[in-house]
Amino acid sequence: MNRLRLGVNIDHVATIRNARGGTHPDPARAAIIALEAGADGITAHLREDRRHISDADIEALASMLRERGRPLNLEMAVTSEMLDIALKHRPHAVCLVPERREERTTEGGLDVVGGHNWITPFVAKLRDAGSRVSLFIAADAAQIEASVHAGAQVAEFHVGAYCDAVREGRVEAARAALQALRDGAAQAGRLGLEVHAGHGIDFVTVAPIAAIPEVAELNIGHFLIGEAVFTGLEVAVARMRRLMDEARV
Ligand code: PXP
Repeated sequence: MNRLRLGVNIDHVATIRNARGGTHPDPARAAIIALEAGADGITAHLREDRRHISDADIEALASMLRERGRPLNLEMAVTSEMLDIALKHRPHAVCLVPERREERTTEGGLDVVGGHNWITPFVAKLRDAGSRVSLFIAADAAQIEASVHAGAQVAEFHVGAYCDAVREGRVEAARAALQALRDGAAQAGRLGLEVHAGHGIDFVTVAPIAAIPEVAELNIGHFLIGEAVFTGLEVAVARMRRLMDEARV
């Protein structure tokens, strides 16, 4: 099977920094360590409320990654403000996500079926600017089809339901969620979408997801930054990289 790419999401380095204000720990420094430890690219979510990543972080990450020839995957809500920012930076990739201010993290996927008329021109503008556009969706047949019609090149599947079921020992729910991911990946592949996966992945849940042949990229954040507290970021990313590679053979 082809090599799976790893995007490391460094949002929660900014969460720790923002707990005290100031500049430490610096997300761009974490990004460099992640790249050196085996990440292929860096993912950052600029939220409307700027609770972690700031506009200045995006500037710094974009220029550091451009210098190193590595991709930035900008996660953002489908708003005019975010579109202007993306068109200014022209990141390698943009992942459109649903966003609600009261949520703790991204809950559920984007409703591409219901939001089709709003999302489609967004995708076109981002693609015209040269970004590869991904939609963060549930592995649901109607959402996958709508993503193709919206013009996206990539569907990133929200794998949180699977990861939660595994962690909570709900065996049947985990089995069903994994099967839905496999079926969705096969459908997306047939329709010409590249498939990515993200949300809640850890050392236990990574292998079954990485073994789905259509999946080309995983985006992993919270667990790796948490694990870095115990082992350092380099060790955590290198271990995730190894588990991904082993699941692909
Ligand atoms: N992919 C997308 C689209 C996300 O919104 C997130 C969470 O910000 C992730 C991946 C990473 O999820 P986690 O931090 O749970 O690993």
